[in-house]
Amino acid sequence: MTETVTVDLPGRVYDIRVGAGVLAEAGPRIAAMGGRKHVAILTDETVAGLHLRALQDSLGAAGLTSEALALPAGEATKSWPHLERSVEWLLDQKVERGDIVVALGGGVIGDLAGFAAAILRRGVRFVQIPTTLLAQVDSSVGGKTGINAPHGKNLIGAFHQPSLVLCDTALLDTLQRRDFLAGYGEVVKYGMLGDAGFFEWLEVNAPRMADDMDVRIHAVTRSCQMKAEIVARDETEQGDRALLNLGHTFCHALEAATGYSDRLLHGEGVAIGCALAFETSARMGLCAQEDPSRVRAHLAEMGMKKDLVDIPGDLPDAAALLDLMGQDKKVVDGTLRFIMARGIGAAFVTSDVPRDVVTSVLNDALAARAAVPNS
Ligand code: GLY
Repeated sequence: MTETVTVDLPGRVYDIRVGAGVLAEAGPRIAAMGGRKHVAILTDETVAGLHLRALQDSLGAAGLTSEALALPAGEATKSWPHLERSVEWLLDQKVERGDIVVALGGGVIGDLAGFAAAILRRGVRFVQIPTTLLAQVDSSVGGKTGINAPHGKNLIGAFHQPSLVLCDTALLDTLQRRDFLAGYGEVVKYGMLGDAGFFEWLEVNAPRMADDMDVRIHAVTRSCQMKAEIVARDETEQGDRALLNLGHTFCHALEAATGYSDRLLHGEGVAIGCALAFETSARMGLCAQEDPSRVRAHLAEMGMKKDLVDIPGDLPDAAALLDLMGQDKKVVDGTLRFIMARGIGAAFVTSDVPRDVVTSVLNDALAARAAVPNS
């Protein structure tokens, strides 16, 4: 089973191919896109060891030569020094305006390579081949590219859409369980924000997702469809695209509070943040009281972190977490924007969230931690 999702942006329509083995399509599809018969690949050292050979074999079989730059794995690579190294390497590879750059890796490589492609010769085409669940359902789709600054994550970047995305769901077999589950945080977010039927389907089927390829393909495909629809409506996040940030205001504060360390992976923070967003919505009378419990029950069934109690080590108090939320990119004129929900599948953007409600949600979640030894 192989699926195609189309991102329908005027003048920049592109396909997302989803299925087990679609990496093998890289050669013929990239050859058909024109440009020189030489492809420059940006990847990381871990992914290169696992999947680069298969990619280069596919390119070679289609008559394309290729060269790869393998950068260190990890978030620190999304930085000025590695961007500079990547762009200069691409220039050494003589990449021209009509050529294709390939990003083979997770979100770090996709964001960095996409940004390098955006600024090289004022923009060259690039193909995303995401190798993590998080990258397949979120970061490889929609054209947000960039690097981190000492001031914060993703503060330097550009919108630059890929020309093709190949989501090979078989590549996810090489992920650690924790990374797979963290990526699932972004999958379930789509059900919560805009498709109650998908959330129900995930409640029934997602526990089999690690072992059942058809379930995995449907979950990735539906996630990409939802992202594609939202991006087509609002590419540069003037409105609806902000819905994709469900759970992220809480998540960014928790990531900052835990030092962007492996105490909390981004997708884990998204899952906890979604649960907190539903709790806040319920307390404001926006959604049913049962909705936050249902969200947490599903996360627990998946074996995921679902609350502050699941984050190891110390956390600051509610006031400090609120201050960290205030540093979020989504603050406009000093006002925090939240994604709240009128029910599962019915999220909306609002600035109208009383500070005392958020404080009480955080205080209760922190008190629950205090009641559990060694959290
Ligand atoms: N990851 C959120 C977005 O692409 O807008």
